[in-house]
Amino acid sequence: MQRRNFLQLSGAGLLWQLAGRSEAYTGGVIPALGSNILPILPLLTGSSFHLSLQSGQMEFLPGKKTSTYGINGNFLGPAIKVRDGDNVSFNVSNNLAEPTALHWHGMHVPANMDGGPHQLIQPGATWNAVFTVRQRAGTNWFHPHTHGQTGRQVYMGLAGLLMVEDAHTDVLDLPKTWGEDDIPLIIQDRRFRTDGSFAYLSSMTDSIQGMLGDVFLVNGAVSPRVSLPAKEVRFRVLNGSNARVYRLAFSDGRTFRQIATDNALLEAPVELTTLTLSPGERAEVVINCTADLGKRLVLLDTLSRASLLMLNIDKTPAQSTTLPATLANLEWLDPAAAARTRSFTLSMGMRMGMGMMMGMGGGMQFLINGVSLDLARIDQTVPLNDIEIWEIRNAGPMGMLHSFHVHGTHFTIVERNGSVANVHAYEKGYKDTVQVNSGEVVKLILKMTDYTAAANAPYMFHCHILEHEDRGMMGQFIVT
Ligand code: C2O
Ligand code: CU
Ligand code: CU
Repeated sequence: MQRRNFLQLSGAGLLWQLAGRSEAYTGGVIPALGSNILPILPLLTGSSFHLSLQSGQMEFLPGKKTSTYGINGNFLGPAIKVRDGDNVSFNVSNNLAEPTALHWHGMHVPANMDGGPHQLIQPGATWNAVFTVRQRAGTNWFHPHTHGQTGRQVYMGLAGLLMVEDAHTDVLDLPKTWGEDDIPLIIQDRRFRTDGSFAYLSSMTDSIQGMLGDVFLVNGAVSPRVSLPAKEVRFRVLNGSNARVYRLAFSDGRTFRQIATDNALLEAPVELTTLTLSPGERAEVVINCTADLGKRLVLLDTLSRASLLMLNIDKTPAQSTTLPATLANLEWLDPAAAARTRSFTLSMGMRMGMGMMMGMGGGMQFLINGVSLDLARIDQTVPLNDIEIWEIRNAGPMGMLHSFHVHGTHFTIVERNGSVANVHAYEKGYKDTVQVNSGEVVKLILKMTDYTAAANAPYMFHCHILEHEDRGMMGQFIVT
């Protein structure tokens, strides 16, 4: 609600799409929901992968060509599945005409393999990232992390999934047939010009509120439909949007079960009717369609009132699954054992001089503890294996949410606004990105393990609203 007030204030038009109706958008007409088949990201398994970052073209809207970026394709990339304990290798080739970087968001990897802004890949170059997978089963992802250009490069289409499997989940009766009952959903919003091109940063307010669009994409398709078997179905949901927050629900208001947060399975399934995801966050959910053969549902975003995806339950399942009552044993670090508390205050400021002449949006800077990112400055030094509390405070104006993300590790949430009771049901697990609304203080607990990080390749922490990140709401830490 507060977010919507901010949008009105900024004058950005939000269109409310309704199921089955064609709607106008800033650049033309959106086809009716169900017009396109939901693309399923190609699944890659093994231990050695080649990723080509390249430019391409898509027809998101009928008759309109959009210039895009993609990974091994025109838009988005593959879904890669690796196993805990495996040594994996990624050859990342930059076939774009500009430098980029490719970060493994959610992965516990050495800092020089992290793919942050210090591991730039020049045009024509190939970066080889090698690491051992050392974490639980979960749905992570990869995307560019180019200093100042992350928002635009992600907007153009660079993102994919990096899923981890482990021996523990092998034996759980979870839906796991890719594209059948194990379905990836990368949810994004885009704004188009009438010629079909992406209208990235086309309004002055885009730099402040973050880039919001009025056309929704799931796995790169507008108004998609998916055919599902009448059984339990698992969705691996990634909010891959630059700035938009979604509150997901099904059109019949049904209860569904969340089984995983960002980095790992939950201890037990959590029953929900809505699930809120800010940019960068993931969740795995299971909906039970056993009794729904012949039914049609719609996946909705209740914040924008958009219809995201039509679900046609029209297939007789080859087999059933029964979601276990217990999924995992998580390790909860003890706040009483914390060596220290670090505080991070997220705020906004005006840049003096040149920037101001470009207007509000151009002059706006996003700050952590009063400073914007300096790649030559180390902001925090974290001792290896110390338990730490990180206290994140959003000092921004009303309606300005920040999505705080930490590289190199996962964390759990100790409390929100001074109380454990304020921690949402959908965030009580291993996380790497957390919603912090204006005025809120969120306490995280974490421990950097296994890898030190030096000043030439630090880990990053930042807001995952990519226009905030690109405008300085990011800092660097080393691990000693
Ligand atoms: Cu998903 Cu540092 O980012
Ligand atoms: Cu990350
Ligand atoms: Cu932010």
